[in-house]
Amino acid sequence: MKKLIAGNWKMNGTLESARALATGIVEALHADRDVLERCDFVLCPPFLHLVAVRAIVDGAASPITLGAQDCAATPDGAHTGDISAAMLKDFGCGYVILGHSERRQNHGETNQTIAAKARLAHENGLCVILCVGEKEDERAAGGELDVVENQLVQSLPPTANPENTVVAYEPVWAIGTGKTATPDDVRAMHRFLRRKLGECLAHPDKVRILYGGSVKPDNAAELFRVENVDGALIGGASLKVDQYMAIAHGA
Ligand code: PGA
Repeated sequence: MKKLIAGNWKMNGTLESARALATGIVEALHADRDVLERCDFVLCPPFLHLVAVRAIVDGAASPITLGAQDCAATPDGAHTGDISAAMLKDFGCGYVILGHSERRQNHGETNQTIAAKARLAHENGLCVILCVGEKEDERAAGGELDVVENQLVQSLPPTANPENTVVAYEPVWAIGTGKTATPDDVRAMHRFLRRKLGECLAHPDKVRILYGGSVKPDNAAELFRVENVDGALIGGASLKVDQYMAIAHGA
């Protein structure tokens, strides 16, 4: 299975910096076709920058797929400020990140809301990057498996299959902190997720499970060597062309 190298740009940048970043990544991939044998690439800019980034990465032969950072939990209608899964598909997105801990925390998103969003994303032909992960105190209390299992089982709609679902294990305490889970912790959690996926859908071995949380060029290769790590969801380091590409080289 090729590694998925997904960049979550979060709420960063300007139109100009988004264009520069996308251009830099496209140029780097053109100069280095080998990496395309081993990796697939997804970029998730802020909604407002999607149009500009699409103009740069577009084309049938593009190795980059566009993704969004969220979608609405309802199909359409009177929902001021929301963007629907159908709009994302219509626009040309292939992926949507759902259940990110920043949305669970800052927007009070529950597993039920995330499941509703994921179902709509699936019904509209999008692939969901479903984020799960425990907080620091939950791990300290030995509850990380229970937390992650609940998030997975409750956020994954019955429409999920290996083609339309990617799971990202992102321990909350590792996001943007510079702390990374140890390879042993990652191995244990990814193995657990693989097993639990088998209780939720057919062919769990075909679902990509990403690791996210302070993935950097200097820890990427070690993380990618861990069994059941099928790629990375990258925040901070995805905002720099050289770091993003160096992480891909870790694969
Ligand atoms: P980080 O973010 O790489 O900056 O830790 C990862 C994420 O939140 O997806």
